[in-house]
Amino acid sequence: MAKKNLQPGTVFSPTPVVLVTAQGSDGKPNIITLAWVGIVSSGPPMMSISLRSSRHSHKLIEESSAFVINIPSEALVRETDYCGVVSGRKEDKFEGAGLTPVPAEKVNAPLILECPVNIECEVRQTLRLGVHDMYIGEVVAVHADEEVVQDGGLNIAAIRPFVFCPGDARYWNLGTVIGGYGFTKGKL
Ligand SMILES: Cc1cc2nc3c(=O)[nH]c(=O)nc-3n(C[C@H](O)[C@H](O)[C@H](O)COP(=O)(O)O)c2cc1C
Repeated sequence: MAKKNLQPGTVFSPTPVVLVTAQGSDGKPNIITLAWVGIVSSGPPMMSISLRSSRHSHKLIEESSAFVINIPSEALVRETDYCGVVSGRKEDKFEGAGLTPVPAEKVNAPLILECPVNIECEVRQTLRLGVHDMYIGEVVAVHADEEVVQDGGLNIAAIRPFVFCPGDARYWNLGTVIGGYGFTKGKL
């Protein structure tokens, strides 16, 4: 099969889609939708988020050195899109999306009550990469709704997360299970 050359770019797809909350020195919490998100270390647990410096949330994270990664379920797809097309500079997105801020345990940024999983992070490193700045945060607390916790871990079928495909700019759900880690060696 012939291959075609494409322009070098971040064609990686799909990506997670999350709602990140932050709160700056004015004490007003904000929500931003992010797709440039990842796990960067298991121990200590570290996650990365990348934001353009033009985002209001960028300013808030610079001020507080903290953020919360909230995982939305499919039921929150409209709220997730809304938080990605409106700026907190102009609107209170908690009010606009009908979402509820809940004080976090360790960081100065709220959890989103309606999201089944909330990951509190403290910024440990900031990488100025170009268009985006990457914040590497250490996970300092994790919260999950009782209904999505199974055997001390998370039940993905209960969370019903969804992904974003930058190529078609669409949100997709996860479909069906097609295998498992180590199933070719008889595991799972
Ligand atoms: C699906 C989706 C993914 C996005 N991912 C990012 C991202 O990874 N980084 C970023 O800086 N902006 C991203 N955005 C854009 C911001 O969410 C958007 O500009 C938002 O309005 C900024 O909010 P704020 O100014 O209140 O911080 C994304 C938007 C959508 C809809």
